[in-house]
Amino acid sequence: MLRAAGPSPKSARMTKRSILIHPDPRLKTACDPVADVTDALRVLAEDMLETMYDAPGIGLAAPQVGVLSRMLVMDCVKDPEAKPRPMVLLNPQVIAASEDTSVYEEGCLSIPDQFADVERPAAVTVRWLGLDGEEHQEDFDGLWATCVQHEIDHLNGKLFIDYLGPMKRQMITRRMVKLKRDRARA
Ligand code: NI
Repeated sequence: MLRAAGPSPKSARMTKRSILIHPDPRLKTACDPVADVTDALRVLAEDMLETMYDAPGIGLAAPQVGVLSRMLVMDCVKDPEAKPRPMVLLNPQVIAASEDTSVYEEGCLSIPDQFADVERPAAVTVRWLGLDGEEHQEDFDGLWATCVQHEIDHLNGKLFIDYLGPMKRQMITRRMVKLKRDRARA
C-alpha cells in the first residue's frame, strides 16, 4: 500500500528492488508458502523493507518484487516522530475478521497514483511465521487491518482494483498499460 510512514531505518546491505507494475501475470498469481526461514529470505525481507520505505509505502508483498512466495512487509506507524515498526510476515493467514467494516482510500505501489475506496473488515486477527522461526498472532485494526488484508490479497493474486466495478478497474488498467509503455520508451 501507498503512503509514507515516517523515517526509514537503514542498513548498508539493503538493496532496493524494482516494483512490478500492473498488469503483470506475476501480480495475478497465488504465491507458494514459505517452507523455511533461510538467509535468502532474510535478505529479501530487508530489501523489501528498504524498497517499501523508499517508495514510500506502508506495505509491500513479495510478488510485487517478482518473488512468488507468501511473504509481506509493512509498517503503518503514521506519526513521523514515533518509532518505526517494520514487520515481516511469512505465510500470513487471517484467522478471524470483524463483522464491522471500514472504508479506506487505498493505493498500491504496483498501481501508482491511483486511489479508490475499498471496504474491508475493520479488525482482523492474523497468524504468521516470523523470521525468528516462531509462530505469531496479533489483532490489527485501523490502517494496520486494511494494510495487512491488502497485502495478503497480493499473495493470492488479488489487487485492490479487483474490488471495484469493471469500468473503473478497466480504466485504471488502461492507465497502467500506458504508464508502462511510456516508461519503456523513456
Ligand atoms: Ni498493493
